[in-house]
Amino acid sequence: MTSGKRSRLVVLISGSGSNLQAFIDASKDGNLNADIVGVISNKADVLGLQRAQDAGISNEVLDHRAFPSREHFDAELGERVSSYQPDLVILAGFMRILTPDFVSRFAGHIMNIHPSLLPKYPGLHTHQRAIDAGDKKGGATVHFVTSDLDGGPAIVQAEVPIMGDDTADLLASRVLVQEHQIYPLAAHWFCEGRLTLENGVPQLNGNALQKTGFLFSTAITEQ
Ligand code: GAR
Repeated sequence: MTSGKRSRLVVLISGSGSNLQAFIDASKDGNLNADIVGVISNKADVLGLQRAQDAGISNEVLDHRAFPSREHFDAELGERVSSYQPDLVILAGFMRILTPDFVSRFAGHIMNIHPSLLPKYPGLHTHQRAIDAGDKKGGATVHFVTSDLDGGPAIVQAEVPIMGDDTADLLASRVLVQEHQIYPLAAHWFCEGRLTLENGVPQLNGNALQKTGFLFSTAITEQ
């Protein structure tokens, strides 16, 4: 299932780190041709740090409140990330807007997951907004990061139904199950050299992806 040299991943988190856990598990189970070499959180005492610790992964806290500006924080964050010499930077519930300087430093080598079917609902409170709008489906999108917030080119999306009696929490937990599938999968494609970004357009196995990315269904985990 995997081939070639294992890639180096750095994962940035702010919270529970369930996506980080999916990466840890996929790496261990042979579904991700990569090692997570570092985890950085902008918040102390979050479950994600404990997950990294338990997996024996180097982890550290960089508290944004200790910096006079977003630019200062991102400059130091960039140094810390670079010190791990990553092939790919994974934003996994990292709840910070990144400066253009940070993004360009890792351009083409940085991914995010967002809990909506982008381009719908960039920003916060995505699930409540989908419910309030009467949408019949929600989901998540993995995308390359650009300085356009939640606007970078989409790689893969997973859809879930929205039920009549859904709450934001219920929908979030249904979407998270899918996030844990599609995010390590997208990273695996990248690490295997099958996913590239050519002139701002993601290509999978040499074919340009549609605007909303590859539509994931559980039947194609071997894609
Ligand atoms: C996930 O649902 C992720 O999509 C979302 O935060 C959650 C993190 O969960 N990210 C964003 O909203 C980014 N804009 P986790 O810490 O359990 O992986």
